[in-house]
Amino acid sequence: MDLRNRFVMAPMTRSFSPGGVPGGDVVDYYRRRARHLGLIVTEGTYVGHPSAGSSDRVPRIYGEDALAGWKRVVDAVHAEGGRIFPQLWHLGLARQEGSAPHPEAPIVGPSGISPSGRPRGIAASAADIDAIIASFAQAAADAQRIGFDGVELHGAHGYLLDAFLWSRTNQRADGYGGSIAARARLGAEVARAVRDTVGPDFPVMFRYSQWKGADFDARIADSPADLETVLTPLADAGVNTFHVSTRRYWLPAFEDGARTLAGWTKALTGLPAVALGSVGVTSPFYEPDAEAPSLSLTRLLELFERGEFDLVGLGRSVLSDPEWTLKVRENRLDEIRAYDKVHEAHLL
Ligand SMILES: Cc1cc2nc3c(=O)[nH]c(=O)nc-3n(C[C@H](O)[C@H](O)[C@H](O)COP(=O)(O)O)c2cc1C
Repeated sequence: MDLRNRFVMAPMTRSFSPGGVPGGDVVDYYRRRARHLGLIVTEGTYVGHPSAGSSDRVPRIYGEDALAGWKRVVDAVHAEGGRIFPQLWHLGLARQEGSAPHPEAPIVGPSGISPSGRPRGIAASAADIDAIIASFAQAAADAQRIGFDGVELHGAHGYLLDAFLWSRTNQRADGYGGSIAARARLGAEVARAVRDTVGPDFPVMFRYSQWKGADFDARIADSPADLETVLTPLADAGVNTFHVSTRRYWLPAFEDGARTLAGWTKALTGLPAVALGSVGVTSPFYEPDAEAPSLSLTRLLELFERGEFDLVGLGRSVLSDPEWTLKVRENRLDEIRAYDKVHEAHLL
């Protein structure tokens, strides 16, 4: 797949899709960014499993009303020469009890426990696992049908697929937990079902992170060997790019200091990797007072030239300034509208 440049808009939830249907303002929001970015990953979209979501303002990727809304977004992005993947999302333990769009549905996680070890929801049964896998595959099929250029599977930040990857929330002993390889099984089965549905040529990207919403210091892999155990089954199942979500893209992933997490991902799998985390912003995600680099891109270039990644993810930078890449290319850095928490309130 050809992209206009190496910059990828990161998925960012907006909650501006009443009834789960993206409307004209959502079309405009993505159109403005499609002009300047290589690839857009949409805000997280709920797959069609009843326990996937937690709001009736977050878009669905099931139901003909929502899919028709997304088709308008896709067509607008393509008209600008952009490319777009939906992010396929199941909240798992992060769902709120009794919330829309299916208030009656239970909270479903790997083991019925929260990151802090308290009881939360139910442990997914074999039938739940089959239904979850099928919901991702159906979402990918629908995304392909309405013209999306690929899909991203949300396996990061503590949501369902990541809750299976993480030993703290996954205490199963049934082949979906118990070892690192077993914890990676659900993600791999989802990826395999998606790949079987969309065929060999449709890009499937997998987003993962060490950090969780509930714990920035959490880890699914303590060493490159652990990471290889997690990523290899995903790659074997048909994932062809990894979107490596960190909060500081430049930090070494492990104690040896050898490579960043994106760098290890690329080295271990041989697949393209997206590096992401505080590019073009002055503070890490959800830590406004922490020290971060200046807006300088020197370090990013150094790591790129060292072969650590292929693509660069941009979250807050392109939230606040849809022309961020244009202004960087034209060296109009002082014209960049800097990220400010206020923009999150408006998400224009
Ligand atoms: C408002 C907002 C909403 C977000 N929603 C999602 C989401 O739906 N899915 C996801 O994987 N990450 C989500 N994220 C995380 C971003 O994709 C990204 O990982 C994070 O902002 C760090 O990248 P940055 O430092 O470039 O902003 C969100 C971030 C923000 C600021």
